[in-house]
Amino acid sequence: MLTKTFTRSLAASLLGLVLAASVHAQQAKPQVTILATGGTIAGAGASAANSATYQAAKVPVDKLIAGIPEIGKLADVRGEQVFQIASESFTDEHLLALGRRVAALAKQPDVDGIVITHGTDTLEETAFFLNLVVPTEKPVVLVGSMRPGTALSADGALNLYNAVATASDRASRGKGVLVVMNDEIFSGRDVTKAINIRTEAFKSPWGSLGMVVEGRTYWFRAPVKRHTVGSEFNIETIKSLPAVGIAYGSGNATDVAYKALAASGAKALIHAGTGNGSVSAQVVPALRELRSQGVQIVRSARVTGGGFVLRNAEQPDDQYDWVVAHDLNPQKARILAALALTRTTDAREVQRYFMEY
Ligand code: DGL
Repeated sequence: MLTKTFTRSLAASLLGLVLAASVHAQQAKPQVTILATGGTIAGAGASAANSATYQAAKVPVDKLIAGIPEIGKLADVRGEQVFQIASESFTDEHLLALGRRVAALAKQPDVDGIVITHGTDTLEETAFFLNLVVPTEKPVVLVGSMRPGTALSADGALNLYNAVATASDRASRGKGVLVVMNDEIFSGRDVTKAINIRTEAFKSPWGSLGMVVEGRTYWFRAPVKRHTVGSEFNIETIKSLPAVGIAYGSGNATDVAYKALAASGAKALIHAGTGNGSVSAQVVPALRELRSQGVQIVRSARVTGGGFVLRNAEQPDDQYDWVVAHDLNPQKARILAALALTRTTDAREVQRYFMEY
């Protein structure tokens, strides 16, 4: 027969084991910070039938987190409302402020991963910017939604759950800034919003990096371009970004937009060219004149989805001292051109950045 003393000590030992296990489970859970900036993922519509008519940037971050209790099984999560805006209204000052906050958080030992909720309209630009300027191996994951949380079959909750799962996974480290949308994990460098009204809106011309399903990540590729800890750009040394304008190529083109952008102070012009970054004969003289005045000319293309602008093909870039954006679309080219101009005014050096990042 067991003595009372032995029984008590056995119970105490078992209790100690249970407590240690729960402390370990608590300690083992990753620490993830969610920075909220607004967008549809924080949107609200008048009725459940409003999947495309709603007001963005309404729901605060704590309510977003409270609406997905399953997140607590993935990580210890804390929320921070950085902005509450629709992302089409992001300015370079917003980008710089967000980059500084992400970089500061990434240095904290009690932060294992960072999720940024963001409007989808300019999410790709923010993701590329952070990919270039935040020197961390820790997962930084941007996420949005195409439908507000009030809509039937809203996509925001699962997207946010998947983003926290990705930010919690050590396998996500060192892959650069990531974007999680519609079960897919994309590189912040390549991804773009390719469709304006479907949940499968985000695509990369080079494919996604992987998937996240039921809280687990599945990887199939890794980025090859320079990013984060491998980048020459660092948010801590960037006080401001030079103005860079984008002008769209089409038939019946004129040089009016390019001249106006330069006159307003643009230090570089991104040409969203037809085809392989072609430039209308009506526009070439103005771009050559602006180049001679020190404005950088970068040939991107309105055609995206799986190719790149070839140097010296549609235009004699060596002779004109112009730059090609390689595979970057115009909105991403704007980000890299602005960062490049914080370090150089030499077009050949700018071209090197476009080939390496
Ligand atoms: N106003 C758009 C934005 O904040 C809504 C699009 C979205 O977030 O999905 O980007």
